[in-house]
Amino acid sequence: MHKPVMVEEVLETLALRDQETYIDATFGTGGYSAAILENENCFVVALDRDPEAALRAESFKKKYNNRFSFYEGRFGDMEKLVPSIGYDGIVFDVGVSSPQLDESSRGFSFRMEGPLDMRMEKKGLSAADVVNGFEEKEIARIIWVYGEERRSRAIARAIVAQRKEHPFETTTQLAALVRPIVGVERPGFDPATRTFQALRLYVNDELGELERGLEASEKLLKTGGRLVVVCFHSLEDRIVKTFLKKKSGGLANPSRYLPEAPPLVPTFQLKNRKALSPGDAEIKSNPRARSAHLRSAIRMEGKS
Ligand SMILES: C[S@@+](CC[C@H](N)C(=O)[O-])C[C@H]1O[C@@H](n2cnc3c(N)ncnc32)[C@H](O)[C@@H]1O
Repeated sequence: MHKPVMVEEVLETLALRDQETYIDATFGTGGYSAAILENENCFVVALDRDPEAALRAESFKKKYNNRFSFYEGRFGDMEKLVPSIGYDGIVFDVGVSSPQLDESSRGFSFRMEGPLDMRMEKKGLSAADVVNGFEEKEIARIIWVYGEERRSRAIARAIVAQRKEHPFETTTQLAALVRPIVGVERPGFDPATRTFQALRLYVNDELGELERGLEASEKLLKTGGRLVVVCFHSLEDRIVKTFLKKKSGGLANPSRYLPEAPPLVPTFQLKNRKALSPGDAEIKSNPRARSAHLRSAIRMEGKS
Protein backbone atom coordinates (compact mmCIF):
# COMPACT_ATOMS: atom_id res chain seq x y z
CA MET A 1 0.00 0.00 0.00
CA HIS A 2 1.23 3.50 -0.81
CA LYS A 3 1.99 5.52 2.31
CA PRO A 4 1.44 9.16 1.36
CA VAL A 5 4.43 11.35 2.14
CA MET A 6 4.34 14.55 4.27
CA VAL A 7 0.53 14.52 4.54
CA GLU A 8 0.48 16.78 7.61
CA GLU A 9 2.63 19.37 5.88
CA VAL A 10 0.57 19.13 2.68
CA LEU A 11 -2.68 19.75 4.56
CA GLU A 12 -1.16 22.62 6.49
CA THR A 13 0.21 24.38 3.40
CA LEU A 14 -2.99 23.80 1.44
CA ALA A 15 -4.79 25.55 4.34
CA LEU A 16 -8.10 23.75 3.72
CA ARG A 17 -11.41 25.58 4.06
CA ASP A 18 -15.04 24.55 3.91
CA GLN A 19 -16.58 24.47 0.38
CA GLU A 20 -13.29 25.15 -1.40
CA THR A 21 -12.11 23.11 -4.44
CA TYR A 22 -8.66 21.54 -4.73
CA ILE A 23 -6.85 19.69 -7.50
CA ASP A 24 -4.90 16.55 -6.57
CA ALA A 25 -2.77 16.39 -9.73
CA THR A 26 -1.21 12.99 -8.87
CA PHE A 27 -4.00 10.84 -7.40
CA GLY A 28 -1.96 7.59 -7.20
CA THR A 29 -3.70 5.58 -4.47
CA GLY A 30 -5.59 8.64 -3.29
CA GLY A 31 -3.71 9.28 -0.05
CA TYR A 32 -3.79 13.07 -0.42
CA SER A 33 -7.33 13.15 -1.86
CA ALA A 34 -8.62 11.13 1.11
CA ALA A 35 -6.80 13.29 3.64
CA ILE A 36 -8.24 16.47 2.07
CA LEU A 37 -11.80 15.11 1.83
CA GLU A 38 -11.75 13.72 5.39
CA ASN A 39 -10.45 16.94 6.89
CA GLU A 40 -12.82 19.50 5.43
CA ASN A 41 -16.21 19.62 3.73
CA CYS A 42 -14.62 20.55 0.42
CA PHE A 43 -14.27 19.28 -3.17
CA VAL A 44 -11.41 17.43 -4.88
CA VAL A 45 -10.75 17.20 -8.60
CA ALA A 46 -8.15 14.47 -9.07
CA LEU A 47 -5.95 13.49 -12.00
CA ASP A 48 -3.61 10.66 -12.87
CA ARG A 49 -2.19 9.41 -16.14
CA ASP A 50 -2.11 5.78 -14.97
CA PRO A 51 -5.22 3.75 -15.97
CA GLU A 52 -4.82 1.70 -12.78
CA ALA A 53 -5.12 4.86 -10.68
CA ALA A 54 -8.31 5.61 -12.62
CA LEU A 55 -9.71 2.25 -11.47
CA ARG A 56 -8.83 3.03 -7.85
CA ALA A 57 -10.63 6.37 -8.16
CA GLU A 58 -13.95 4.56 -8.70
CA SER A 59 -14.33 3.77 -4.99
CA PHE A 60 -13.67 7.43 -4.16
CA LYS A 61 -16.49 8.50 -6.48
CA LYS A 62 -18.87 6.16 -4.65
CA LYS A 63 -17.71 7.22 -1.20
CA TYR A 64 -17.54 10.99 -1.69
CA ASN A 65 -20.20 11.47 -4.43
CA ASN A 66 -20.18 14.97 -5.86
CA ARG A 67 -17.27 16.02 -3.62
CA PHE A 68 -14.85 13.98 -5.74
CA SER A 69 -14.24 13.80 -9.49
CA PHE A 70 -11.45 12.16 -11.46
CA TYR A 71 -9.86 12.77 -14.87
CA GLU A 72 -7.47 10.30 -16.48
CA GLY A 73 -4.67 12.18 -18.19
CA ARG A 74 -1.49 14.16 -17.75
CA PHE A 75 -1.22 17.13 -15.44
CA GLY A 76 0.72 18.88 -18.22
CA ASP A 77 -2.65 18.99 -20.03
CA MET A 78 -4.55 19.95 -16.88
CA GLU A 79 -6.03 23.13 -18.35
CA LYS A 80 -7.78 21.11 -21.06
CA LEU A 81 -8.83 18.28 -18.72
CA VAL A 82 -10.42 19.90 -15.69
CA PRO A 83 -13.34 22.34 -15.52
CA SER A 84 -12.08 25.89 -15.85
CA ILE A 85 -13.13 27.28 -12.51
CA GLY A 86 -10.65 29.07 -10.26
CA TYR A 87 -9.13 26.55 -7.82
CA ASP A 88 -8.27 27.18 -4.19
CA GLY A 89 -5.32 24.81 -4.14
CA ILE A 90 -3.33 22.42 -6.31
CA VAL A 91 -1.08 19.68 -4.97
CA PHE A 92 1.50 17.61 -6.86
CA ASP A 93 3.26 14.54 -5.46
CA VAL A 94 5.49 13.76 -8.41
CA GLY A 95 7.16 10.46 -9.22
CA VAL A 96 5.96 6.88 -9.05
CA SER A 97 3.44 5.35 -6.67
CA SER A 98 4.08 2.22 -4.62
CA PRO A 99 1.75 0.08 -6.77
CA GLN A 100 3.73 1.14 -9.84
CA LEU A 101 7.02 0.24 -8.15
CA ASP A 102 5.83 -2.92 -6.43
CA GLU A 103 4.08 -4.50 -9.40
CA SER A 104 6.86 -6.24 -11.34
CA SER A 105 4.82 -6.23 -14.58
CA ARG A 106 5.08 -2.42 -14.74
CA GLY A 107 8.84 -2.72 -15.19
CA PHE A 108 9.88 0.21 -12.96
CA SER A 109 11.91 -1.76 -10.44
CA PHE A 110 15.42 -3.15 -10.80
CA ARG A 111 14.78 -5.36 -7.77
CA MET A 112 12.20 -7.58 -9.46
CA GLU A 113 12.16 -9.34 -12.80
CA GLY A 114 9.65 -7.75 -15.14
CA PRO A 115 9.33 -6.44 -18.70
CA LEU A 116 11.52 -3.39 -19.31
CA ASP A 117 8.50 -1.12 -19.60
CA MET A 118 8.18 1.90 -17.18
CA ARG A 119 5.26 3.56 -18.98
CA MET A 120 2.89 5.19 -16.53
CA GLU A 121 0.20 5.37 -19.21
CA LYS A 122 0.82 1.81 -20.42
CA LYS A 123 1.17 3.16 -23.96
CA GLY A 124 3.79 4.88 -26.09
CA LEU A 125 7.55 4.40 -26.04
CA SER A 126 8.82 1.89 -23.46
CA ALA A 127 12.21 1.67 -21.75
CA ALA A 128 12.95 -1.42 -23.87
CA ASP A 129 12.29 0.63 -27.04
CA VAL A 130 14.91 3.13 -25.88
CA VAL A 131 17.69 0.68 -25.00
CA ASN A 132 17.04 -1.60 -28.00
CA GLY A 133 16.43 1.06 -30.62
CA PHE A 134 18.17 4.36 -29.83
CA GLU A 135 21.68 5.29 -30.98
CA GLU A 136 24.48 4.85 -28.47
CA LYS A 137 25.06 8.61 -28.22
CA GLU A 138 21.42 9.31 -27.41
CA ILE A 139 21.28 6.54 -24.79
CA ALA A 140 24.39 8.01 -23.14
CA ARG A 141 22.83 11.49 -23.19
CA ILE A 142 19.61 10.26 -21.58
CA ILE A 143 21.47 8.43 -18.81
CA TRP A 144 23.67 11.48 -18.19
CA VAL A 145 20.98 14.18 -18.33
CA TYR A 146 18.17 12.37 -16.50
CA GLY A 147 20.26 10.12 -14.27
CA GLU A 148 23.32 12.31 -13.66
CA GLU A 149 25.22 9.03 -14.02
CA ARG A 150 28.93 9.68 -14.59
CA ARG A 151 29.38 6.23 -16.22
CA SER A 152 26.68 7.03 -18.81
CA ARG A 153 28.93 6.57 -21.85
CA ALA A 154 30.32 3.22 -20.69
CA ILE A 155 26.80 2.01 -19.91
CA ALA A 156 25.51 3.07 -23.35
CA ARG A 157 28.45 1.35 -25.03
CA ALA A 158 27.78 -1.89 -23.15
CA ILE A 159 24.03 -1.71 -23.90
CA VAL A 160 24.67 -1.39 -27.64
CA ALA A 161 27.21 -4.25 -27.59
CA GLN A 162 24.88 -6.54 -25.68
CA ARG A 163 21.71 -5.82 -27.66
CA LYS A 164 23.44 -7.06 -30.84
CA GLU A 165 23.57 -10.49 -29.22
CA HIS A 166 20.23 -10.34 -27.49
CA PRO A 167 17.77 -7.44 -27.23
CA PHE A 168 16.83 -6.32 -23.71
CA GLU A 169 13.53 -7.65 -22.48
CA THR A 170 13.62 -7.52 -18.71
CA THR A 171 14.50 -5.14 -15.89
CA THR A 172 16.92 -7.62 -14.34
CA GLN A 173 18.82 -8.03 -17.62
CA LEU A 174 19.53 -4.31 -17.76
CA ALA A 175 20.31 -4.01 -14.03
CA ALA A 176 22.80 -6.90 -14.28
CA LEU A 177 24.60 -5.14 -17.13
CA VAL A 178 24.78 -1.78 -15.36
CA ARG A 179 25.84 -2.88 -11.84
CA PRO A 180 29.43 -3.96 -12.56
CA ILE A 181 30.05 -0.88 -14.75
CA VAL A 182 29.05 1.53 -11.98
CA GLY A 183 30.38 -0.56 -9.10
CA VAL A 184 29.40 -0.40 -5.44
CA GLU A 185 29.38 3.18 -4.17
CA ARG A 186 27.81 2.83 -0.76
CA PRO A 187 26.06 0.09 1.14
CA GLY A 188 22.34 -0.13 0.39
CA PHE A 189 22.54 1.91 -2.84
CA ASP A 190 21.92 -0.11 -5.99
CA PRO A 191 24.34 0.93 -8.76
CA ALA A 192 21.49 0.58 -11.30
CA THR A 193 19.40 3.28 -9.56
CA ARG A 194 20.44 6.27 -11.67
CA THR A 195 20.14 4.43 -15.01
CA PHE A 196 16.62 3.28 -14.14
CA GLN A 197 15.68 6.78 -12.95
CA ALA A 198 16.94 8.24 -16.24
CA LEU A 199 14.91 5.86 -18.39
CA ARG A 200 11.79 6.39 -16.30
CA LEU A 201 12.04 10.19 -16.46
CA TYR A 202 12.71 10.08 -20.20
CA VAL A 203 10.02 7.56 -21.15
CA ASN A 204 7.34 9.50 -19.25
CA ASP A 205 8.75 12.97 -20.06
CA GLU A 206 8.42 13.65 -16.35
CA LEU A 207 10.47 16.85 -16.26
CA GLY A 208 8.61 18.35 -19.24
CA GLU A 209 5.33 17.36 -17.58
CA LEU A 210 6.34 19.07 -14.36
CA GLU A 211 7.18 22.31 -16.18
CA ARG A 212 3.86 22.28 -18.03
CA GLY A 213 1.96 21.30 -14.88
CA LEU A 214 3.39 24.25 -12.97
CA GLU A 215 2.54 26.67 -15.79
CA ALA A 216 -1.01 25.26 -15.87
CA SER A 217 -1.33 25.75 -12.11
CA GLU A 218 -0.55 29.42 -12.48
CA LYS A 219 -3.54 29.69 -14.83
CA LEU A 220 -5.93 27.51 -12.83
CA LEU A 221 -5.40 28.89 -9.33
CA LYS A 222 -7.51 31.81 -8.17
CA THR A 223 -5.92 34.72 -6.33
CA GLY A 224 -5.04 33.46 -2.86
CA GLY A 225 -4.93 29.83 -4.11
CA ARG A 226 -2.18 27.60 -2.72
CA LEU A 227 0.32 25.59 -4.78
CA VAL A 228 2.03 22.66 -3.03
CA VAL A 229 4.64 20.45 -4.71
CA VAL A 230 6.32 17.38 -3.22
CA CYS A 231 9.39 16.13 -5.14
CA PHE A 232 11.79 13.28 -4.63
CA HIS A 233 14.95 14.24 -6.41
CA SER A 234 17.04 17.23 -7.22
CA LEU A 235 16.23 17.45 -10.95
CA GLU A 236 12.53 17.87 -10.16
CA ASP A 237 13.12 20.11 -7.16
CA ARG A 238 15.31 22.42 -9.25
CA ILE A 239 12.46 22.90 -11.74
CA VAL A 240 10.02 23.81 -8.97
CA LYS A 241 12.50 26.09 -7.24
CA THR A 242 13.37 27.95 -10.48
CA PHE A 243 9.71 28.28 -11.48
CA LEU A 244 8.71 29.72 -8.11
CA LYS A 245 11.71 32.02 -8.00
CA LYS A 246 10.88 33.41 -11.44
CA LYS A 247 7.18 33.77 -10.69
CA SER A 248 7.76 35.43 -7.34
CA GLY A 249 10.04 38.04 -8.91
CA GLY A 250 13.29 36.56 -7.59
CA LEU A 251 15.17 35.91 -10.84
CA ALA A 252 17.54 38.59 -12.07
CA ASN A 253 17.86 39.63 -15.75
CA PRO A 254 19.23 36.47 -17.42
CA SER A 255 21.97 38.27 -19.40
CA ARG A 256 23.85 41.52 -18.89
CA TYR A 257 24.20 41.80 -22.70
CA LEU A 258 20.47 41.96 -23.24
CA PRO A 259 18.42 45.07 -22.56
CA GLU A 260 16.89 45.00 -19.09
CA ALA A 261 13.62 43.04 -19.29
CA PRO A 262 10.58 44.83 -17.87
CA PRO A 263 10.11 43.70 -14.25
CA LEU A 264 7.80 40.72 -13.97
CA VAL A 265 4.65 41.23 -11.96
CA PRO A 266 4.89 38.39 -9.42
CA THR A 267 2.16 35.78 -9.77
CA PHE A 268 3.22 33.81 -6.71
CA GLN A 269 4.40 34.56 -3.21
CA LEU A 270 6.65 31.92 -1.64
CA LYS A 271 5.37 30.39 1.58
CA ASN A 272 8.81 29.18 2.64
CA ARG A 273 12.12 30.25 1.23
CA LYS A 274 13.56 26.77 1.78
CA ALA A 275 11.93 23.46 0.91
CA LEU A 276 10.36 21.59 3.84
CA SER A 277 11.61 18.07 4.59
CA PRO A 278 9.86 15.29 6.48
CA GLY A 279 10.55 14.83 10.17
CA ASP A 280 12.73 12.01 11.56
CA ALA A 281 9.75 9.97 12.72
CA GLU A 282 8.24 9.91 9.22
CA ILE A 283 11.57 9.00 7.61
CA LYS A 284 11.90 6.10 10.07
CA SER A 285 8.42 4.77 9.38
CA ASN A 286 8.47 5.42 5.62
CA PRO A 287 11.88 5.19 3.91
CA ARG A 288 10.35 6.58 0.67
CA ALA A 289 9.98 9.92 2.50
CA ARG A 290 13.74 10.25 2.97
CA SER A 291 14.39 12.38 -0.10
CA ALA A 292 11.09 14.30 -0.15
CA HIS A 293 11.04 18.08 -0.51
CA LEU A 294 7.93 20.22 -0.25
CA ARG A 295 7.72 23.69 -1.78
CA SER A 296 4.66 25.90 -1.68
CA ALA A 297 3.47 29.31 -2.77
CA ILE A 298 0.34 31.46 -2.87
CA ARG A 299 -1.15 32.76 -6.12
CA MET A 300 -1.01 36.52 -6.30
CA GLU A 301 -3.10 38.85 -8.42
CA GLY A 302 -0.57 39.23 -11.27
CA LYS A 303 -1.65 38.10 -14.75
CA SER A 304 -0.21 34.75 -15.89
C1 LIG B 1 3.98 9.56 -5.90
S1 LIG B 1 2.52 9.02 -6.66
C2 LIG B 1 1.27 9.95 -5.87
C3 LIG B 1 0.79 9.30 -4.63
C4 LIG B 1 -0.42 9.95 -3.99
N1 LIG B 1 -0.13 11.25 -3.41
C5 LIG B 1 -1.03 9.04 -2.94
O1 LIG B 1 -1.19 9.50 -1.81
O2 LIG B 1 -1.31 7.89 -3.24
C6 LIG B 1 2.57 9.82 -8.20
C7 LIG B 1 1.39 9.55 -9.13
O3 LIG B 1 1.40 10.56 -10.12
C8 LIG B 1 1.10 10.01 -11.36
N2 LIG B 1 1.72 10.88 -12.36
C9 LIG B 1 3.04 11.06 -12.60
N3 LIG B 1 3.20 11.94 -13.59
C10 LIG B 1 1.97 12.35 -13.97
C11 LIG B 1 1.49 13.28 -14.94
N4 LIG B 1 2.32 13.96 -15.72
N5 LIG B 1 0.17 13.46 -15.05
C12 LIG B 1 -0.70 12.77 -14.24
N6 LIG B 1 -0.32 11.89 -13.32
C13 LIG B 1 1.02 11.68 -13.18
C14 LIG B 1 1.67 8.62 -11.33
O4 LIG B 1 0.98 7.79 -12.23
C15 LIG B 1 1.45 8.23 -9.87
O5 LIG B 1 0.24 7.55 -9.71
